[in-house]
Amino acid sequence: MNAHANPKQRGAADAPFYLPGADEIEVFQAAAANDLPVLLKGPTGCGKTRFVAHMAARLGRPLYTVACHDDLSAADLIGRYLLKGGETVWTDGPLTRAVREGAICYLDEVVEARKDVTVVLHPLTDDRRILPIDRTGEELEAAPGFMLVASYNPGYQNILKTLKPSTRQRFLALEFDFPEPAREIEIVTRESGLDRDRVTALVRLAGKIRGLKGQDLEEGVSTRLVVYAAALIQQGMGVDRAIEAAMIEPLSDDAETKRGLRDLSAAIFG
Ligand SMILES: Nc1ncnc2c1ncn2[C@@H]1O[C@H](COP(=O)(O)OP(=O)(O)O)[C@@H](O)[C@H]1O
Ligand SMILES: [Mg+2]
Repeated sequence: MNAHANPKQRGAADAPFYLPGADEIEVFQAAAANDLPVLLKGPTGCGKTRFVAHMAARLGRPLYTVACHDDLSAADLIGRYLLKGGETVWTDGPLTRAVREGAICYLDEVVEARKDVTVVLHPLTDDRRILPIDRTGEELEAAPGFMLVASYNPGYQNILKTLKPSTRQRFLALEFDFPEPAREIEIVTRESGLDRDRVTALVRLAGKIRGLKGQDLEEGVSTRLVVYAAALIQQGMGVDRAIEAAMIEPLSDDAETKRGLRDLSAAIFG
């Protein structure tokens, strides 16, 4: 489990940089104002986590992020009795803390979590906004400001790992995708500090690589990896080496596919 609390009150001015693609900031603000949970759908590395961090700062709410995995249970979210100095003490999990404090709880890759997790979310996502804690007998009412946000990647077409309609129809949903070139150039330039010309070439390569999705590649290159490539070049690494390490090796283990990717790169960088 991986929970980060950021209890400091911050405003839009020092929120982490996020360049919107459409009206997602307004939709999220409206959701927050109406106590509605939000589901972010989209491929890995396209800005979902950054968006949530940005929105939490803008709204001045603490943020608890939980990276979900196939072993994550309801107790990991809610809390458990732990042995401390010979005594058993109840210890809140990140969801319980968010419910008490009126924070945003972000469940990253929620479909990975065990089934008992969705059961816990249901009473929190309707207008009761309660969290029953069976182990202590408590029934917590969510403090004002509590908001549930979840993300998942619909690209991994695993029939066992999609959200059930009874769960997904409790959330507003926003679709994320890789940014269009002008926006991606802006993002990568801001994030890496590399000059715009070289960033433009990297973004062009990313577009070509994404064109291979479905044929040779399961998923196109993420904006995150383009930022990595740009950061390596900005720190002095040769362009070919940076592309190899950030935009080719991470995408495939297949020698022929990688050769194809190098050809694309050579066509752009010559
Ligand atoms: N719209 C955006 N604004 C600012 N940075 C972005 C944006 N989209 C992607 N990024 C960059 O890409 C990186 C990966 O994004 P992240 O939010 O971690 O992806 P996800 O959560 O969708 O897997 C971020 O750390 C940031 O550098
Ligand atoms: Mg993420």
